[in-house]
Amino acid sequence: MRTEIRLSIIGPGRVGQTLGWALARRGFPIIDVLGRDERRTENAVAFIGSGRGCTRWDELSEEWDLLLVSVNDDALTEVAERIAHRFPSLRGKTALHTSGFHSSRILHPLKDRGAAVGSLHPLMTFSEPSVARERLSGISYAVEGDASAVAQAHRLVAALEGRAFSIGPEQKPLYHAAAVLACGHVVALLETAFAVLDAIGLEPASARRAFDPLIRETIENVLREGGRRALTGPFARGDARVIAAHLAALADVDREGEFVDVYACLGRRALHLASLTPTHQAAIRAMLTSDSTDLLRKETTDDR
Ligand SMILES: NC(=O)c1ccc[n+]([C@@H]2O[C@H](COP(=O)([O-])OP(=O)(O)OC[C@H]3O[C@@H](n4cnc5c(N)ncnc54)[C@H](OP(=O)(O)O)[C@@H]3O)[C@@H](O)[C@H]2O)c1
Repeated sequence: MRTEIRLSIIGPGRVGQTLGWALARRGFPIIDVLGRDERRTENAVAFIGSGRGCTRWDELSEEWDLLLVSVNDDALTEVAERIAHRFPSLRGKTALHTSGFHSSRILHPLKDRGAAVGSLHPLMTFSEPSVARERLSGISYAVEGDASAVAQAHRLVAALEGRAFSIGPEQKPLYHAAAVLACGHVVALLETAFAVLDAIGLEPASARRAFDPLIRETIENVLREGGRRALTGPFARGDARVIAAHLAALADVDREGEFVDVYACLGRRALHLASLTPTHQAAIRAMLTSDSTDLLRKETTDDR
């Protein structure tokens, strides 16, 4: 009986290349790597260091045991149908997709052909595969699906020196929304801070350098001791006059109205963490409602 798992990869983008490279290094034979564009697919195969690049579904061989489907979320439905169309029987085979949003149910056309299906979501940000591949050790993976697909996913995670945790299929949209808040929205938030600094002439590279220790310390504090203890600044202290002045200063440089929106929205969340009296909280919250910020923006525009 075969004990090694032969992999084929559909969608050799950031995740497909990074996991493909890492799994190939750990002895998993890579059979096919299927992408849409010939040159990009060949580049991906070169990066992974093994496998055969292909761009047509009829080029995909049957020699795999596990299909790692790492295409964009929006392409998953179509890709699942294409795979099912390509292989009339998938008995004894496994397919795992890497989406954080979708559950394994999106692979039902493969299940109908006899495959065990699951999802294996690496809880990590992959931008540049050559950087991401060095950061895989110790990351967590959300896993769900058919029992044997989950067992295969656990084997991959163990080989990658990661940590697997279970998630229910119906929990994935909220889980993924939380991951976006913790990752993409942190990027958007920090870039908002840098755009505000740009308004006082501090260009982004200098701003990143100057703010580096503050950002790292803040994130470390939240991770170590939680938000209640990590929160500092005017919302923790309840300095209402400072908050009002921040809103006015932001409105002054905020042509699209978004600096004020971001500040007010996150300020309302920060109030949940602050130990202020209910009256004090209510007074600050009143400045942060959309009615108050709309009025502030209108007054600022009228003054211009
Ligand atoms: N990036 C992250 O940080 C991250 C983290 C965890 C999980 N994920 C998940 O992993 C999956 C892939 O994300 P990614 O960031 O790696 O995306 P990506 O870099 O855009 O790569 C997607 C790959 O899928 C290919 N593709 C798209 N449609 C296809 C189709 N119809 N047939 C064959 N190949 C197709 C793309 O080909 P082209 O080159 O032609 O576009 C590309 O190679 C997504 O489900 C995502 O949610 C991403």
